[in-house]
Amino acid sequence: MSHWKQPSKLAMLVVLLLLLCHAVDKVHCSTHHNNSQDFHSLLEFHKGITSDPNEALSNWNPSIHFCHWHGVNCSFTRPYRVTELNLTGQNLAGQISSSLGNLTFLHTLDLSYNSFSGPLPLLNKLRNLDVLFLGSNHLGDVIPDWLTNSSNLVDLDLSENNLTGHIPSNIGFLTKLEGIALYNNNLTGVIPPTLGNISTLEVVDFSANQLSGSIPNKVWQISNITMLNLGQNNLSGGIPDTLSNFSSLTALGLNNNKLGSALPSNIGDVFRHLNELYLDNNIFVGTIPTSLGNPSSLEALDLSNNHFSGKIPSSFGRLSKLQILNLELNMLEARDSEGWQFFDALANCSSLNILSVSQNL
Ligand SMILES: *[C@@H]1O[C@H](CO)[C@@H](O)[C@H](O)[C@H]1NC(C)=O
Ligand SMILES: *[C@@H]1O[C@H](CO)[C@@H](O)[C@H](O)[C@H]1NC(C)=O
Ligand SMILES: *[C@@H]1O[C@H](CO)[C@@H](O)[C@H](O)[C@H]1NC(C)=O
Ligand SMILES: *[C@@H]1O[C@H](CO)[C@@H](O)[C@H](O)[C@H]1NC(C)=O
Ligand SMILES: *[C@@H]1O[C@H](CO)[C@@H](O)[C@H](O)[C@H]1NC(C)=O
Ligand SMILES: *[C@@H]1O[C@H](CO)[C@@H](O)[C@H](O)[C@H]1NC(C)=O
Ligand SMILES: *[C@@H]1O[C@H](CO)[C@@H](O)[C@H](O)[C@H]1NC(C)=O
Ligand SMILES: *[C@@H]1O[C@H](CO)[C@@H](O)[C@H](O)[C@H]1NC(C)=O
Ligand SMILES: *[C@@H]1O[C@H](CO)[C@@H](O)[C@H](O)[C@H]1NC(C)=O
Ligand SMILES: *[C@@H]1O[C@H](CO)[C@@H](O)[C@H](O)[C@H]1NC(C)=O
Ligand SMILES: *[C@@H]1O[C@H](CO)[C@@H](O)[C@H](O)[C@H]1NC(C)=O
Ligand SMILES: *[C@@H]1O[C@H](CO)[C@@H](O)[C@H](O)[C@H]1NC(C)=O
Repeated sequence: MSHWKQPSKLAMLVVLLLLLCHAVDKVHCSTHHNNSQDFHSLLEFHKGITSDPNEALSNWNPSIHFCHWHGVNCSFTRPYRVTELNLTGQNLAGQISSSLGNLTFLHTLDLSYNSFSGPLPLLNKLRNLDVLFLGSNHLGDVIPDWLTNSSNLVDLDLSENNLTGHIPSNIGFLTKLEGIALYNNNLTGVIPPTLGNISTLEVVDFSANQLSGSIPNKVWQISNITMLNLGQNNLSGGIPDTLSNFSSLTALGLNNNKLGSALPSNIGDVFRHLNELYLDNNIFVGTIPTSLGNPSSLEALDLSNNHFSGKIPSSFGRLSKLQILNLELNMLEARDSEGWQFFDALANCSSLNILSVSQNL
């Protein structure tokens, strides 16, 4: 019993040291937990870098604990595993080593705005990964299938690379995804129908690829989606008549495709939060729906270079925020005073900067 009341000086010292150690420098005291796997993974990654003109990695040396290396963050508790690697915009070149796939606590990887080339690294063991930003590099090859196993991904950006092949058909496995940017690549094939299974989606940008086929119907039913950009592809089909009432869309870009058929007459009621609508350079037909005068925040409307016919709706006069209205290169008619009523109505649109109705009837 006595040693409970009078703890030995040695024990006191050990406790004191441990406490001090914990308070003063969590990282350097973790000698028992020197995570050599993370250390070696980062060193391997460093070896793959062939150019570092900004000397972004100048403090990546073994005398400094890797948790203090530039761009690296670790968990605050033992065993101090690497949780974030962020080297965005550092002009780094080389290949991204698959050794990063051994950083099994990693949740954020941001290597965007560099000059990395080669294929995407194999990160299939990273169960905690929620942010993967590799946009604006020179990465090539295909989007690997394992990516759809990273089921905790919330934000995925592979835009502005040189990716080819298809978007993985199992993309719908990423059930927590809120943002996906694949624009400016060389992707072919269809938009996988399983994309419509991801009810959490808010921002989808697949523009400037070579995607073909039609837009899966379920994509229009994702209630939280605010930005959908599928412009500059090779998409066909149209916009379905049966649009859900609960759209949050503020920006819709379908320009420069081969989309046709008539627009649903209630398009402006369903997409009532629209700021920007780009349907130009397609083969849409029929009249312009009067309902497009209803989204009160609409600022840019481009319907140019289609096959729209009939009169220009005077309902555009209700769009008090409208700045750009481009209707050129269609078959719209204004032959009598009734046909020109839209022009009087537009006098209401005091923010209008650009108006073109050229090359119509
Ligand atoms: C961690 O261990 C590795 C060998 O596994 C060693 O090279 C490195 O210097 C150690 N780092 C620290 C900060 O103790
Ligand atoms: C590390 O975490 C801190 C605090 O959360 C944050 O300010 C910093 O930007 C992070 N650094 C990296 C490289 O992620
Ligand atoms: C990476 O760091 C930059 C600033 O250096 C920051 O703007 C960016 O949001 C960070 N990326 C992530 C994914 O947190
Ligand atoms: C990942 O770690 C394992 C075990 O430490 C090692 O055998 C393997 O080579 C590492 N993978 C890469 C790509 O570095
Ligand atoms: C995805 O995960 C499943 C189960 O965890 C595994 O069987 C499969 O091989 C993984 N697929 C890829 C492409 O990594
Ligand atoms: C893209 O990849 C093709 C071949 O796959 C190659 O010829 C081209 O140079 C690459 N472009 C860039 C910008 O990396
Ligand atoms: C797409 O591929 C073509 C032909 O291989 C190439 O000329 C073009 O630069 C590529 N585009 C991008 C964005 O990589
Ligand atoms: C996902 O979408 C596909 C194709 O639309 C469908 O067949 C499948 O049942 C969906 N899966 C889930 C889990 O909802
Ligand atoms: C839609 O957004 C709201 C508000 O941000 C959020 O509470 C809700 O969970 C989201 N719905 C889905 C299916 O993610
Ligand atoms: C565009 O799609 C059509 C089918 O609608 C297909 O025949 C054509 O090959 C595609 N063109 C390109 C460049 O992918
Ligand atoms: C959809 O909106 C229309 C007009 O705003 C309304 O008449 C209809 O009842 C709504 N449908 C549902 C399912 O809410
Ligand atoms: C012009 O604006 C007023 C007030 O916003 C509105 O009542 C009127 O209907 C508009 N005129 C036209 C032709 O749309």
